[in-house]
Amino acid sequence: MAHVRSLFFTGVASESESKAQEAKRLGRPSSLIWNITNRCNLLCSHCYMAADGHVKPDQLTDTDAYEMIDRMHDAGVPVVFLSGGEPMMRPNFWEILSRINAAGVRPTISTNCTYVTADAARRLHDNGVRFIATSVYGPREYHDRLTRVPGTYDKVIDAIRHLRAADVKVVVKTALTRETYPYIYDIIAQAKELDCSMIYICDLITSGRSAGEDAMRVTTEQWRELCDFIVDEVADPENTFEYDIGAIPSTIPYIAEQLMARGIDVSKGLDRLTIFSACPVGQGHMTINSEGGVMPCQFAQDWTVGNIHEISFDEATGRLYELNAADSTGQCAPDACDYSRICRGCRVKAWQRAGDPLVEDVTCILNPDAGERTMPDTMRTEAGDAATVGPCHATC
Ligand SMILES: C[S@@+](CC[C@H](N)C(=O)[O-])C[C@H]1O[C@@H](n2cnc3c(N)ncnc32)[C@H](O)[C@@H]1O
Ligand code: SF4
Ligand code: SF4
Repeated sequence: MAHVRSLFFTGVASESESKAQEAKRLGRPSSLIWNITNRCNLLCSHCYMAADGHVKPDQLTDTDAYEMIDRMHDAGVPVVFLSGGEPMMRPNFWEILSRINAAGVRPTISTNCTYVTADAARRLHDNGVRFIATSVYGPREYHDRLTRVPGTYDKVIDAIRHLRAADVKVVVKTALTRETYPYIYDIIAQAKELDCSMIYICDLITSGRSAGEDAMRVTTEQWRELCDFIVDEVADPENTFEYDIGAIPSTIPYIAEQLMARGIDVSKGLDRLTIFSACPVGQGHMTINSEGGVMPCQFAQDWTVGNIHEISFDEATGRLYELNAADSTGQCAPDACDYSRICRGCRVKAWQRAGDPLVEDVTCILNPDAGERTMPDTMRTEAGDAATVGPCHATC
């Protein structure tokens, strides 16, 4: 949940990160994902939303949706990521998009790209979309088997070309599992060939259609191997391709340690990490589900702090920031891990495992066997031990 190259090598916050920092300073939402529908035309075997062809009975009406856009504008939301389900399936998708753009909120779309024709790509650009995140899971045969709809691989590859032709940047996303792991380096190479700017690699969340599938998660060693590859990539000044990692925040201190072992100064990145922890829960990030439920993270659809029908935007935002007040516990507690406030551990996995968002993250790749975790002295910054990451979720 951090743009690794930008974090450790750019030294200064990007425009979007600066806006998110300012929003956080003002107590406003720093980023927002809005699942405008749960409905989907695909049936991906891993989908944490368990999305299918059904619309949830209490889905926000079109009027509710337009009111929501006014509220986002009034709350100073800098950027909204429209997601789902498949957001482009909502009949008034284009109206929602144009109203968001007209309200001065930057729209970004997370889509399976099956509706992105050449015309749609141009129309997205005309409506202020400069950034799309879309999913690729492996070669054609595997991708179509996972999505359970033949032809989707060809559609997504065509769509990426249309988007680039329309000057829309593309982030390729993938969920890392034991099945997709063998394809990950090919997916990265293909994303580069297709002129995509970034890959977002997300650890498997075991809910929805993945509930109970813990055996499908990749091992600590595999995550470390992939992080080592990312370290090689970002340390190469010739390379501009960006890496974002989701739902496994311990990869960020792991990568920082590997960079430091190569003599690379990570202190500027660590300073920036004092604003947003690697896990975005409690950092001003807001997800709104298709029924108006306000969630600390899109990966736990049943963890809400209220419904937008019942509480104000300000109240919802306040409740989300409150989640940052308490420390994580167990091996993620400040007295057990020096990275506690940098990383926090994945609070959604904690919620899903124990019904308590503060318990330790047992998927930590730095500290897989529990026990104390100490930050190397040379990594400590004037800002203290806490380090952070920029606004994430570009990709969820
Ligand atoms: C829920 S989809 C919504 C947007 C759009 N339908 C799509 O597939 O890109 C957003 C992202 O979540 C990822 N995702 C779905 N289930 C997941 C899971 N169990 N663990 C991690 N990522 C998952 C998908 O691969 C996709 O990239
Ligand atoms: S991952 Fe996206 S495309 Fe696949 S079923 Fe879920 S919502 Fe649909
Ligand atoms: S122990 Fe927890 S806080 Fe520390 S690095 Fe691991 S996941 Fe992050």
